[in-house]
Amino acid sequence: MPRPGATQNASSGDDPSPGIPRHVGIIMDGNGRWATARGLPRMEGHRRGMDAVRGVIRAASDFGVSHLTLYSFSSENWSRPTEEVEFLFGLLRIFIQSELADLHANRVRIRVIGSEQGVPEDILETLAEAEKLTAANSGLGLQVAFNYGGRDEIARAVRRLAADVAEGTMSAETIGAEAIAARLDTAGIPDPDLIIRTGGEVRLSNFLLWQAAYAELLFVPTYWPEFDKEALAAAIDEFARRTRRYGGLATARA
Ligand code: IPE
Ligand code: IPE
Ligand code: MG
Repeated sequence: MPRPGATQNASSGDDPSPGIPRHVGIIMDGNGRWATARGLPRMEGHRRGMDAVRGVIRAASDFGVSHLTLYSFSSENWSRPTEEVEFLFGLLRIFIQSELADLHANRVRIRVIGSEQGVPEDILETLAEAEKLTAANSGLGLQVAFNYGGRDEIARAVRRLAADVAEGTMSAETIGAEAIAARLDTAGIPDPDLIIRTGGEVRLSNFLLWQAAYAELLFVPTYWPEFDKEALAAAIDEFARRTRRYGGLATARA
């Protein structure tokens, strides 16, 4: 009988260094509250949040993390005031323009996950160029979750699956977890081992719903603009103390 767990990417691929999560996902929350607590406009919190992104990408790479997924704009964030949505889009433009050369020089491979629906054309082009330029890089895999929602991603994967069945390239009977995973935006990327949410809220807010099945979850009170290399090191230390069982009885540490 095949082991059902073997169909997941949770435990596939190269073994990372002991205690180091191969894939870290971060829900970067708390920019607005960081700013409000200092009497600053929310936008200043987003600006400072972008500085934190720079530092954490470098730190993840230094610590030997293979994949880093950053939740930068959710499919629900469209419900914010237009000015805030436009400001966040502007920051993404600035971030790519100012960081791309450096990321490329550091062999970072950029991939974007999320829907293209509603995203301004120039941003789609900028992101596509970043993906293309860095496609052959072998360093840190940086997934930018932009206009991303886990339910939307699963719905799009199911739509592709239905199209494959309709075309006859797939039969309904053979649909399993692997067929769905292969059609997600994260196809080919190992599942997250550690998901960190800053800002104190204890929820996933539609982040990597499918992929998080066996992720270790860590919720920290730190607002995102203050999350630095030391904070990431502390999160990785906590991860190393967890015991992962994947439904079994194994006692091996993460
Ligand atoms: C996270 O910070 C950034 C995005 C969601 C884009 P928030 O803007 O959600 O900050 P809080 O949660 O209001 O403090
Ligand atoms: C999650 O934060 C989305 C991002 C960090 C991009 P939110 O601030 O949007 O989440 P909720 O509204 O508190 O659940
Ligand atoms: Mg928030």
